[in-house]
Amino acid sequence: MVSIKDVAQKANVSTATVSRVISKPEAVKEETSKKVLKAIQELNYQPNVLARQLRRLETKTILVIVPDITNTFFSKVLRGIESVAVSNGYKVILGDAGNDVEREEEYLNVLRQKQADGIVMLTARMETGVIEKFSVDYPLVLACEYIEGSTIPTVSIDNVSSARKATEYLIALGHEKIGTITGPLNVVLGKDRLKGYTQAMARHNLSVEPFLVQEGTFTFDSGYNMMMKFLALSNPPTAVFAANDEMAFGAVKAVKSRGLRVPEDVSVIGFDDIEFSAIFEPPLTTISQPTFEIGTKAMELLLKLMNEDEITRNQYILEDSLIERDSCTRNNA
Ligand code: RIB
Repeated sequence: MVSIKDVAQKANVSTATVSRVISKPEAVKEETSKKVLKAIQELNYQPNVLARQLRRLETKTILVIVPDITNTFFSKVLRGIESVAVSNGYKVILGDAGNDVEREEEYLNVLRQKQADGIVMLTARMETGVIEKFSVDYPLVLACEYIEGSTIPTVSIDNVSSARKATEYLIALGHEKIGTITGPLNVVLGKDRLKGYTQAMARHNLSVEPFLVQEGTFTFDSGYNMMMKFLALSNPPTAVFAANDEMAFGAVKAVKSRGLRVPEDVSVIGFDDIEFSAIFEPPLTTISQPTFEIGTKAMELLLKLMNEDEITRNQYILEDSLIERDSCTRNNA
């Protein structure tokens, strides 16, 4: 049977655009409309009218799924989402996937059961096919995490260049033996932040020995454990890039537990700039993500999808910045 995806592919537009041409043609440019109608005719596409009407029943509620509610990074993103949602008459409900892909997928039923009109996912760990198919039928925006090559509207920073920037900061301080505590390497953010680290090391002709890369889970405990591994080496790294602040805190605790000092003995840079980073001891040098703006932009895009308005861009990459505090210093070795 011909699907909306086939029409979108043939007309070279997104499925959301096809949907708009059918239900709200006045919101689409004439030229785009013509392309889509031609594809519909050629493929003899028959939209499911009943399903469309069912989807139009409004709850004025949206669902946000976070990968891990214990990471305070997500609270400011939620603030951003909520501020736009509330001023547009929407309530926000929250789902915590607890880093569990099955739970993440189960939350999609909230929309299938018509308990929410749209969804912002701050995690994208389920099978690409499942999430892509879901986005054809329901308004969905990804934020923070993303799927490479997807047309699902997405808001994030450029994690590769941000991680490169963090690593190059350590290199500029004269460090050569730099370790990294990565995020989970089956998650796009884990992979991309490792890529940024590797690129920076390669650009400066610094070798990445396998023992310099330790895989964490984006949690405090994993930061602690992986730093303990570094400290057990006969010649440990003089600086460490932790792929998020939670892990950086764990890493600092490990250094202190061995009677060593941050940054005098080991420099540590984090990623996220969560609120606690500024009051931690030592205050953490880190990459700051525009969390509130990520949330507001994601919600604005979701509103457009729910109203079947035209979305001119699918990918929004927002600017990060490096916040210099006291957890890194020059390498004098
Ligand atoms: O879920 C872990 C990470 O994803 C957070 O620390 C933050 O960086 C987010 O993008």
